[in-house]
Amino acid sequence: MKTTGNTILITGGTSGIGHGLARRFHAAGNKVIVAGRRQELLDEIVAANDGIDSVLLDVADPESIAAVRRTVTSRYPDLNVLINMAGIMQPENLQESSFLATSEATITTNLLGPLRMLSAFIPFLVAQQDAVIMNVSSGLAFVPLPMTPTYNATKAAIHSFTESLRVQLSGTSVQVLELIPPAVQTTLLGQQDDDNAMPLAEYLTEVMHILDTQPEATQICVERVRMLRFAEVDGNYDRMLMMLSGH
Ligand SMILES: NC(=O)c1ccc[n+]([C@@H]2O[C@H](COP(=O)([O-])OP(=O)(O)OC[C@H]3O[C@@H](n4cnc5c(N)ncnc54)[C@H](OP(=O)(O)O)[C@@H]3O)[C@@H](O)[C@H]2O)c1
Repeated sequence: MKTTGNTILITGGTSGIGHGLARRFHAAGNKVIVAGRRQELLDEIVAANDGIDSVLLDVADPESIAAVRRTVTSRYPDLNVLINMAGIMQPENLQESSFLATSEATITTNLLGPLRMLSAFIPFLVAQQDAVIMNVSSGLAFVPLPMTPTYNATKAAIHSFTESLRVQLSGTSVQVLELIPPAVQTTLLGQQDDDNAMPLAEYLTEVMHILDTQPEATQICVERVRMLRFAEVDGNYDRMLMMLSGH
């Protein structure tokens, strides 16, 4: 994708990777609209970054998505990039029936959320001259972290869905990207100070570099995620699964 001159709506823009990417795209000369549920964070981001706009959004709520589509497409008729970043990650103990509540919430946010966003925005984006959809999966789509089964499953589903979406939109102006992060230091699962996770700024710099230098790339893989992304191809799947199982 081109990294300047876009109008970008980014869900999950209030913290972590989404917030960081929003600021990088803003600095690179794009109009950025951040979306999330926490109004106080949206207000802070707008106050701290002259030109970034915000919109309140709960991707688990179809009415909220419909309202955001109406607001954003009328306020920004040039909107040409949708980044489906919003996500949650919670541990589940599958021996306790209570895991189902976590499982349902995770599917609603991580899988139904992006699908509902796509249903709302694809008709608008295909009418643009040059558009991008970026879905966000994870290295854990390719080797699961057994502590978070539904999270991994939603990310594997996002990967598969994105592959089909790219084929179905191949005759349109919409480029379909998949961002595949490794463990990055954010509050997603409390790994903001974890030395095994990649520092956020480093991750963002490498992502922007890939976008800048490989405009045709469809899967955005930084070096640190390649072990997971290509584990099966490289014959490392069992070893990686053992490692993620804490063995
Ligand atoms: N960090 C990692 O290690 C890692 C690795 C692989 C993939 N990822 C993926 O990267 C994405 C960003 O994660 P992160 O690490 O930056 O975590 P984060 O800091 O916790 O950010 C998650 C974002 O999602 C938003 N969100 C959650 N539920 C939402 C909802 N129902 N409606 C709208 N927004 C919602 C949150 O905003 P509000 O709370 O304000 O709504 C927040 O902005 C996620 O999809 C995650 O799965 C992260």
